[in-house]
Amino acid sequence: MTEELIIRAARDIIRAKKVVALTGAGMSVESGIAPFRGEGGIWEKYDPEEYAYIDIVRTNPGKSWILLSEMQKEITKAQPNPGHISLAELERLGYLSSIITQNVDGLHHEAGNKNIIEFHGNHRWVVCMECGKRVKCTEISLEKLPPRCECQGVFKPDVIFFGEAIPYEALTKSNQEARSCEVMLVIGTSAVVQPAASMPGIAKSSGATIIEINIEETELTGYISDYLIKGKAGEVLPKIVNKIKNDAANLSV
Ligand code: OAD
Repeated sequence: MTEELIIRAARDIIRAKKVVALTGAGMSVESGIAPFRGEGGIWEKYDPEEYAYIDIVRTNPGKSWILLSEMQKEITKAQPNPGHISLAELERLGYLSSIITQNVDGLHHEAGNKNIIEFHGNHRWVVCMECGKRVKCTEISLEKLPPRCECQGVFKPDVIFFGEAIPYEALTKSNQEARSCEVMLVIGTSAVVQPAASMPGIAKSSGATIIEINIEETELTGYISDYLIKGKAGEVLPKIVNKIKNDAANLSV
């Protein structure tokens, strides 16, 4: 079944004039980064209401940084997995226009993709909430929390917290990409956090084929997505790319 769907996905990608990927935390699980929901998820350990709202980051940054320092350590250790590398190869081969990612780990950049919309920002950078100075997260010490800038302002990761709006440019560009693609690959996201979760619906209503790659069914399965390839991103994506590379000429396009 999965093999048939891999062939179908390869064919859909080859046929499409424009392919866009929407990625979520499941994309980076095989790189050793915990997802947010489900077993072992970050929100099982840390209640987002207590740690991840922008008001808390401003009023009690020491508390938020307990979670943030853990995430930062995990992210700086992580390397792209075969799923990330496959998406970079798809872009290099000319089959992938852009990635809209909810992930803040920077692993699509590390893998070599060029056209990436970081919908929720990038945790590899921190910004001073006082003077606006932006530095690499590896340049700050996490020995004493919260980390502070030379101006004594508190640093926050350059990411979107609950209660913050998505930057206008990221939102506009993502909407454009969703509206103009013919295939959207929806990889490793539970698709419950808005507005990112609305991108597959926008693509679908513009006529795109929606292909989900996930280890389990989501809110989109059987409703927005045309089909679900059940499996790990790091296993399914290399198979799709291999199929495209080997069979492109032979597939009836
Ligand atoms: P979630 O943790 O909600 O969902 C992860 C999805 O990945 C689930 O559907 C899993 O079934 C799937 N999954 C897990 N391992 C996988 C694997 N190896 N291959 C493929 N799929 C796998 O993460 P997101 O949907 O990204 O926002 O969460 C969206 C947003 O909620 C995040 O960006 C974050 C969070 O609150 C902010 O922090 C603003």
